[in-house]
Amino acid sequence: MDIETNKIAGAVLSTLLVVMGLSMISGIVFAPHKPAVPGFDLPSEEPAAGAGAAAPAADEPIAVRLAKADPAKGEKAVGACKACHSFEKGGANKVGPHLYDVYGRNEGSVGGFGYSAAMKGRTDKVWEADGLDHFLKGPKAYVPGTAMAFAGISKPDTRADVIAYLNTLSDAPKPLPKP
Ligand code: HEC
Repeated sequence: MDIETNKIAGAVLSTLLVVMGLSMISGIVFAPHKPAVPGFDLPSEEPAAGAGAAAPAADEPIAVRLAKADPAKGEKAVGACKACHSFEKGGANKVGPHLYDVYGRNEGSVGGFGYSAAMKGRTDKVWEADGLDHFLKGPKAYVPGTAMAFAGISKPDTRADVIAYLNTLSDAPKPLPKP
């Protein structure tokens, strides 16, 4: 064997060694996944439909919540709205329309305020307890396309407090629904 052949043989051998070494190491690092029964894998356990996830309890009817609502708490809760709404009599429109006398007012009806098309299409409706409850829970869910960029008030009792407060903002507050 001449020197050249030796060199080549050496190179091939050392390459083999490296490859073997790597496959040993990777065999340790990436332990091969062996199926429990050859040929097919055991299915991973899937949570049975509905198991554990009890249906969320429905909110109490708004009339029931209003019967125990506290307008003073509602007044505190509307702090979150004041970036966009004024609540005083004669208050200006801001990002949203003024909310004085909103209870019993036709939806989307404040003159001079640029409502979304979604709200403009609802002027035949009147803001009352039920609609306000749904709108304040999720504005975009209740009025798809509304421009009111507000996530909503998730607590049912807080929504009732806010509605009771809104109804006080009037020269002649309307009767609230009774349970
Ligand atoms: C980020 C600004 C913003 C916040 C915060 C916000 N609103 Fe609004 N709101 C709007 C806008 C804008 C509209 C008009 C929606 C449209 O035209 O689709 C609106 C509309 C309304 C309407 C309908 C009024 C009408 O004349 O038909 C009510 C009621 C209302 N908001 C109540 C609230 C209350 C209560 C809160 C706080 C819990 C609140 N909003 C928080 C921007 C806001």
